[in-house]
Amino acid sequence: MQAQDRLIVALDVSSLDEARSIVEELAGSVGMFKIGLELFTACGTEVFQFIESYQNVRFFFDGKFHDIPNTVAAACRNTTRTNVGMFNIHAQGGIEMMSAAAKATREEAAAKNIEKPILIAVTVLTSISESILHEQIKTSKDLDLANYVVHLAKMTQEAGLDGVVASPREVPLIREACGNDFVIVTPGIRPNWPELGKDDQKRVLTPAEAIAQGSTYLVIGRPITRAQNRMAAVKRLCGELVSH
Ligand code: C5P
Repeated sequence: MQAQDRLIVALDVSSLDEARSIVEELAGSVGMFKIGLELFTACGTEVFQFIESYQNVRFFFDGKFHDIPNTVAAACRNTTRTNVGMFNIHAQGGIEMMSAAAKATREEAAAKNIEKPILIAVTVLTSISESILHEQIKTSKDLDLANYVVHLAKMTQEAGLDGVVASPREVPLIREACGNDFVIVTPGIRPNWPELGKDDQKRVLTPAEAIAQGSTYLVIGRPITRAQNRMAAVKRLCGELVSH
């Protein structure tokens, strides 16, 4: 995979006009654009018409489905039909839910004769700490956060999904447990550029570090979308990945 194909630009904006200006500036120079709940709750299903209006641009719909298997399967069928390149569900919905999602996605893509979107699962949100896991969610104290994430990643693979979203620090363990073909998508990336801070991200890795740890795709928002020259930021990032 080329360096630029590994970049997923987060469209964390609240209007399609803002999203369009970023997509039109960077299409062809990055792998995908991520549309999440912010844009979806602002624009509703227009988001899918927006996605469909671009023939050669890939989108990651970060909708994080989590419901009973029948409902999630139906949502996966509907999402697959919109021609997204990637979307996600929550691993904590369990094997039955994830298997139903994987089956519905495969079947819908085959029925419509379109490329199957990459289906990934969120393991544990990075906003969940080990104490929340143990004190509130009441997972076993024998299982620390990292091992719980690996357990969910293995379950995801068993259910037939393509990969997971993971924080940079869990990537090596997941890569080891799930092998080289498993897709790992990593947010929390910050290039080591003097003009950039960490924003609200707590634990960050540089793009080159994340790839070296085993990430397949990097989700990057503000370092690109808020750059004075977005294309220059993309080129600089790709240069760092190639020269690493
Ligand atoms: O601007 P920045 O690069 O921090 O954006 C990161 C993107 O990745 C945002 O869309 C954020 O919601 C998403 N994300 C994250 N951490 C997670 C999961 C998703 O930063 N654990």
